[in-house]
Amino acid sequence: MTRPDDPKPEEPAALRYGFGANWQRYLARCFSPERLEIARDHMLRFLRRRDLAGLSFIDIGCGSGLHSAAARMAGAGPLLSFDYDPDSVAATGRVRDAVTGGGAGASADGWDIRRGSILDAGFCAGLGRFDIVYAWGVLHHTGDQWTALRNAASLVAGGGLLYVALYAEEAHLDPPPAYWLEVKRRYNRAGPLGRAVMEAGYVWTHMLGRRPANLLKLPGMARDYRRSRGMDLHTDVRDWLGGWPMEFSSIPAVVRFAAAELGLDLVGLASGEANAEYLFTPRAAPAPGYPPLPFRDPHPVMVRLDDPAALRGWPPVHIFGTAAGAAVLLRAFDEAGIAVAGFVDPTEGAGESMLHGRPVLPFGRFAAQAARDAPVVLSNRFVFENGRRLVEAGFTRVFDAHALVRRLAAVRRSV
Ligand SMILES: C[S@@+](CC[C@H](N)C(=O)[O-])C[C@H]1O[C@@H](n2cnc3c(N)ncnc32)[C@H](O)[C@@H]1O
Repeated sequence: MTRPDDPKPEEPAALRYGFGANWQRYLARCFSPERLEIARDHMLRFLRRRDLAGLSFIDIGCGSGLHSAAARMAGAGPLLSFDYDPDSVAATGRVRDAVTGGGAGASADGWDIRRGSILDAGFCAGLGRFDIVYAWGVLHHTGDQWTALRNAASLVAGGGLLYVALYAEEAHLDPPPAYWLEVKRRYNRAGPLGRAVMEAGYVWTHMLGRRPANLLKLPGMARDYRRSRGMDLHTDVRDWLGGWPMEFSSIPAVVRFAAAELGLDLVGLASGEANAEYLFTPRAAPAPGYPPLPFRDPHPVMVRLDDPAALRGWPPVHIFGTAAGAAVLLRAFDEAGIAVAGFVDPTEGAGESMLHGRPVLPFGRFAAQAARDAPVVLSNRFVFENGRRLVEAGFTRVFDAHALVRRLAAVRRSV
């Protein structure tokens, strides 16, 4: 875990992971129009936009090039992609050729690809400013994520947005960050056979829960994995075990640093997965239609719920959310004998309805009538945004069940 004022980690050059080679393998095996659409939809959903027409876009640490292509597909332009690793640069070039037809027209088409480092302030100074600055899963792999974040922020145009994803300390409680850092050191020192053994061990322990019966479901899990930003399970396992240098940061530390040091307001946040996604806009010249989130410091504490049975003896619970995670939670509570009073629909303008035989109340109605000590369990990954709404409305028993939902969903898929 690092804080902005920590001493800079030593650059472990010998252990540096070859991300680009992994991305080349991904392209050879997995790149498809379907994955491109999934990547585009994920990006647009978080940006809360229908398209990116007329917006300049920079993809920092472009990796496979899939997300640059997704931005292009959403209408972004001009587009600039860069990466430190020459193999990632080459991979992105191949993707550009695939989606633009290749040839001289590709760069004339307004999509430039370069090699460079986000830690190189001189390089960054020559890039210009962009409406959307995108750095997904990159800054924490540079060796100095706070300088990288500062340099990324310098690329945001007035009225623009900074979309970053960083490994969240909060999502790595068990095993903790220190465990994973040691695993990565071992993986990068290992030869091809040792790495293959570690990859298999990771899948067996952390994805299959060491249950032989789950092996049969592995192909289905791998197939479904594309829904995660168009990515691929094996590529991500290698990236996760190898990805070095590597830092973790807490969500409040990032938000505080962005506000105090970079003059950025938080306007979007999705957490609960390994990477927390942040959307920032310059306070001095904000993007229209992106009001700042009222992020409180210290951040409201939500209790993480790892076992549905922990709520035995409590008043009936409300499940916050109405999507797939809510159904998974309802089943878990039913199985544990915990009474569920109903669901809360966080969507603006939602009406009352029924779901799985329980009432669904829109958030406003729920906040107007529910007792403030009613237990509310968050089922989706917008844990911090929704948790904050509840805490600010005065609810005192707010539970974050996102990790539980993910675990139950994975087990359900694999048993
Ligand atoms: C985990 S991959 C993420 C790739 C892509 N953004 C995505 O979302 O799939 C991290 C990428 O960051 C690149 N990278 C690492 N250090 C960098 C730096 N200092 N400047 C630019 N890119 C860097 C790596 O080469 C790698 O391609």
